[in-house]
Amino acid sequence: MDSLFRGTLWTILILFTLPHLTCNMLCPGSCLCNIMGSVKCVGDAITDIPHNLPVHTYLLQLNGTQMNIINERSLADQDLLLRFSLTYSHLHAIHPNAFHVAPQLKSVKLSSNDLSTISARVFSPLATLEQLYLDGNQLETIAPDMFEGLVSLLYLDLSRNKLTSPASDVFDGLTKLTFLNLGRNSINKLPPTIFHSLTNLLQLMIYNNDLEELEAGIFDKLVNLVELKIHQNQITILPPQVFWSLKNLKTLTLSSNRLQAIPEKTFYNMPKLTKLTIYNNPLLSLPDQLMGHMPDMTDLYLYATNLTTVPGNVFANMSGLLRLNFHLNDKLRELPSDLFCCLPKLEKLSLKSNDLLYLHPQLFSGLTTLGILLLNDNKLKSLPDNIFQGLGGVLTVDLKNNHLETLSGDTFLSNSVLKALHLGGNPWDCTCSIRGIAKWIRKHEHVVLDGQDVMCHSPVDQLLRTIGSLQDEEFNFCDAKILKSSYLFTTQTPVVASTTTMPTTMPTTMPTTMPTTMPTTTSGTTEGATQQVTILTTTPTTKPSALPSTILSTMLQTPTTNEPNEEFLPNTEKPSSHYKSDNFYDTLLIEEGPEFVHHNLHKGWVYVWFLPSNAALTGLLMFCYILLVAAGLFLIFAAVFCMYRLNNIMDKLKAQCAHPPE
Ligand SMILES: *[C@@H]1O[C@H](CO)[C@@H](O)[C@H](O)[C@H]1NC(C)=O
Ligand SMILES: *[C@@H]1O[C@H](CO)[C@@H](O)[C@H](O)[C@H]1NC(C)=O
Ligand SMILES: *[C@@H]1O[C@H](CO)[C@@H](O)[C@H](O)[C@H]1NC(C)=O
Repeated sequence: MDSLFRGTLWTILILFTLPHLTCNMLCPGSCLCNIMGSVKCVGDAITDIPHNLPVHTYLLQLNGTQMNIINERSLADQDLLLRFSLTYSHLHAIHPNAFHVAPQLKSVKLSSNDLSTISARVFSPLATLEQLYLDGNQLETIAPDMFEGLVSLLYLDLSRNKLTSPASDVFDGLTKLTFLNLGRNSINKLPPTIFHSLTNLLQLMIYNNDLEELEAGIFDKLVNLVELKIHQNQITILPPQVFWSLKNLKTLTLSSNRLQAIPEKTFYNMPKLTKLTIYNNPLLSLPDQLMGHMPDMTDLYLYATNLTTVPGNVFANMSGLLRLNFHLNDKLRELPSDLFCCLPKLEKLSLKSNDLLYLHPQLFSGLTTLGILLLNDNKLKSLPDNIFQGLGGVLTVDLKNNHLETLSGDTFLSNSVLKALHLGGNPWDCTCSIRGIAKWIRKHEHVVLDGQDVMCHSPVDQLLRTIGSLQDEEFNFCDAKILKSSYLFTTQTPVVASTTTMPTTMPTTMPTTMPTTMPTTTSGTTEGATQQVTILTTTPTTKPSALPSTILSTMLQTPTTNEPNEEFLPNTEKPSSHYKSDNFYDTLLIEEGPEFVHHNLHKGWVYVWFLPSNAALTGLLMFCYILLVAAGLFLIFAAVFCMYRLNNIMDKLKAQCAHPPE
């Protein structure tokens, strides 16, 4: 039993090894033969098809050989050969009858050789041929009957040749053809009927040629076409409706041509389109009706054009768009507010390297699924406060290299999952208006990936500081109101009042001249208090200010309405001038805090003192004050009365002394 088992094992082993051994033994030099019948031969030693190939060779690949000619008998006696490939072998001639001896071939590959002419009808015996590769040769023309008889041909590659203007009937009869590559030739003209037999064509490549125009109707019979590549030509104009028969088209490349305009409705009737490239064309405008329904479109590339704007509905029919690369249009200045209205699935939007100056507040409002938004390298000077409000899922926002000077502190309030934000390369203006976003940046250090490049560009004394390093206390002065006063200017008296946080709701406009007469309520109480002098004193109040003193705010607001001053509009204009120390002497900063402020002017000095506005405390202090004044008055009256009494007594005493009683 055991020996029988062992014997069977040996037999099986020998049976399996034997054909392998014989194959190896019959394999010609410079070749590798595979048990399954494929043979690969490489090297200069080979000048013709080796004679002693294994009988069951069905695939023969010759690469990098010296087989320059296919002779009449080269392929003889290879009855089982189905696939023949001769590449990189400087092949320059094929005998007119070379394929008569091998009519069974299904695939012939003659790529990367030196063929410049092929005699007519050389492939005609190959009635079952399915694939013919002639790419990478020197073919300038195709004889009219070159492909005659190739009734089974599915795949024809003529790319990388020197074809210029193929005749209109060269592809006639190739009714089964599914793939035709004419790319990388020098074709400058295609007859309007050249593809009319190719009703089964699925892929047509005409990229990298010199075509200047497309004939009307040229694609009319290609009803099954799935892929059409016409990029990298010189096409300046498209005939209207040239693609209208291509109802099954999924890919259309028109990039890198010379299109300045595209006719209306050009991309209608292509409901299956998933890829459309029109980038790198000097497009000047797009028509109002351009894109038909293309719900399967997921990626659109529209860049390197001369567009200055686009119609608001240009993407409206691409409801399935996932990625929109609308960038590198260096003249694109404006985007219609509803441009991205109808892209409910958009994940990536690239608007980088355009010439955008301004974005509409509602521009991104419909993009709830957006993850990546690239706005870098534009000329954006400012952004509407709530422009990113609808972008609840945005992970990446790139704003670097724009002209932004400031942003609202609430800009990214709704973007709770934001992971990567770029803000560098902008001329940030580190005056009061930066405070809010600076605070946000400090809080979200890990989100601002280029924090080291987010630097102050002005004012001069903050130059090259990163915004993240600006501390909130440095902006305390922003709470103050600026009063520019002519008499202060002449006396050159710096008076700085104490500082606390400015209520954000306060008007920011400053009066130019200080009111010459203070409201009576303050000046009245000031009289007796000139000793409590605050000159050049900064009294930082740590307690948060709840409400501004009503007296002070009326005092400061009243002149504003009469005399608005454009020089101090901190949020819109450059408020940097008041910030520089050299201008400091002619300004009076009075903080708008919870205090009653009192001032007096005496010999060129301004005296300022404060009374906390805390009601209870103020009441108490006022009470004390009244008590003091009353006590003082009482004392004065008492003193006067005493003096009067004393005088009377003195008079009486004098009289008594002059006339002493007897
Ligand atoms: C054929 O030869 C060329 C150059 O001689 C080489 O670049 C190429 O990779 C080879 N191809 C194969 C399939 O061996
Ligand atoms: C969307 O496509 C349909 C036809 O496919 C067309 O009637 C409609 O005008 C297109 N809409 C836009 C905004 O182009
Ligand atoms: C498009 O822009 C480029 C570069 O700005 C320019 O050279 C070219 O002339 C423009 N083309 C048209 C048609 O305006």
